[in-house]
Amino acid sequence: MSPVPPPKTYRVKSFGCQMNVYDGERMAELLAARGIAPAADGEEADLVVLNTCHIRERASEKVYSDIGRLVKTGDAAGKRPLIAVAGCVAQAEGDEIMARAPAVSMVVGPQAYHRLPEMLDRAVAGERASDTDMPPIAKFDALPARRRSGPSAFLTVQEGCDKFCTYCVVPYTRGAEISRPFADLIAEARLLVDGGAREITLLGQNVNAWRGADARGNDCGLDGVIREIARIPELQRIRYTTSHPNDFTDDLIRCHGEVEKLMPFLHVPVQSGSDRVLKAMNRSHSCDSYLRLLDRVRAVRQDIALSGDFIVGFPGETDADFEQTLRVVDAVGYAQAFSFKYSPRPGTPAASMGDHVSQEQMEHRLQRLQAALNRDQLAFNQASVGRTCSVLIERRGKKPGQWLGKSPWLQSVWFEGDHAIGDIVEVELLEAGPNSIEGRVREPAFA
Ligand code: SAH
Ligand code: SF4
Ligand code: F3S
Repeated sequence: MSPVPPPKTYRVKSFGCQMNVYDGERMAELLAARGIAPAADGEEADLVVLNTCHIRERASEKVYSDIGRLVKTGDAAGKRPLIAVAGCVAQAEGDEIMARAPAVSMVVGPQAYHRLPEMLDRAVAGERASDTDMPPIAKFDALPARRRSGPSAFLTVQEGCDKFCTYCVVPYTRGAEISRPFADLIAEARLLVDGGAREITLLGQNVNAWRGADARGNDCGLDGVIREIARIPELQRIRYTTSHPNDFTDDLIRCHGEVEKLMPFLHVPVQSGSDRVLKAMNRSHSCDSYLRLLDRVRAVRQDIALSGDFIVGFPGETDADFEQTLRVVDAVGYAQAFSFKYSPRPGTPAASMGDHVSQEQMEHRLQRLQAALNRDQLAFNQASVGRTCSVLIERRGKKPGQWLGKSPWLQSVWFEGDHAIGDIVEVELLEAGPNSIEGRVREPAFA
């Protein structure tokens, strides 16, 4: 590659999970600290970071089509952007990207992106650079301090996974489970709140596996982090995701009944309702232990909204196995959920299991599952009608004077009035659809 002028503008495009969104923000902060400005909407950036996801085949293939598109529009405009590929595809297929996509000048894995500025120097000098090392924690220490934040902020507290579910690439792309130090988390939470956050979602691939030593040096779990950040006065709401059924402690469950700022919403993936399939997936929980866990949470927080993840068509899944998944859905009554067709991933144990389910069967099962989940989501929203609850305003609606925000149960609520992004307002829920609820702001009685 030949030397190029240093980029003046950047764009970070994040795909995949919320942790990628968090990483994308941190990469943007690194570039901004270098004096590079975010490209305006509709403007071509001098530097594009594709922050990729490897979880399913479709997500993974996207990176190559995106690179192709960037090259094409760049060539048409007479100037190609510098392209960096970050995220989980970079980690899993770094060498392949370097070989297959000569237009890419930087490949950087999720544990190495603090080195992006040095890599950029090399790219400007005309060299290609790849870094997929996994020195855990080092990254966080090398990142600039947080400054500005939207009303709802992500905070990575735990990263990586030691669970090795047989279908999943995350243990390979994100590495072993690590917990960030308690003091660092509290400091970052304070900076986010100072920068405008009213809500913080604590993130981890297995966020409830977080363990560390609290301010007094005592061993504690995620409940300790939640209780400590709840003491930041301007912070109004706390959430956490994604949790693993096996990593719940009594202390964490108790938090749901005791910490007012902890919102009544919990995402706990189950994947399948069949114990046989769960075993083949190496999930290390049964259908029954999962349901008992949810009962324990409901016992301390009756109004908790539950969410989950499902995979249909895991190798060997029979009609009878799938019926058991539908039974879990009926038993739980999810407020929302994500469901996916099984996608074989290179290098995972499940990819070499026989007895694959046909695409047609998978499609059929996915449709039945999603019909059941959509039914329950609508029912949950309809059951909220008539309630008055707090809504954190996250953005403007389509029409002037319209606002969009989230209820405590993570429902999208829209309404009109004279407000601002970041306001928390009391809203009466009037009319529910499957994906959003229309509300009306309740004026304070003394106004
Ligand atoms: N750490 C989280 C989430 C991991 S990825 C957890 O353990 O729950 C998010 C979701 O993607 C998973 O919960 C699972 O439902 C889905 N998923 C992961 N690998 C997949 C695969 N190979 N095919 C289809 N869906 C998959
Ligand atoms: Fe993947 Fe399982 Fe780890 Fe979740 S717990 S990230 S599904 S291996
Ligand atoms: Fe995707 Fe990596 Fe997240 S594979 S789901 S971006 S951890």
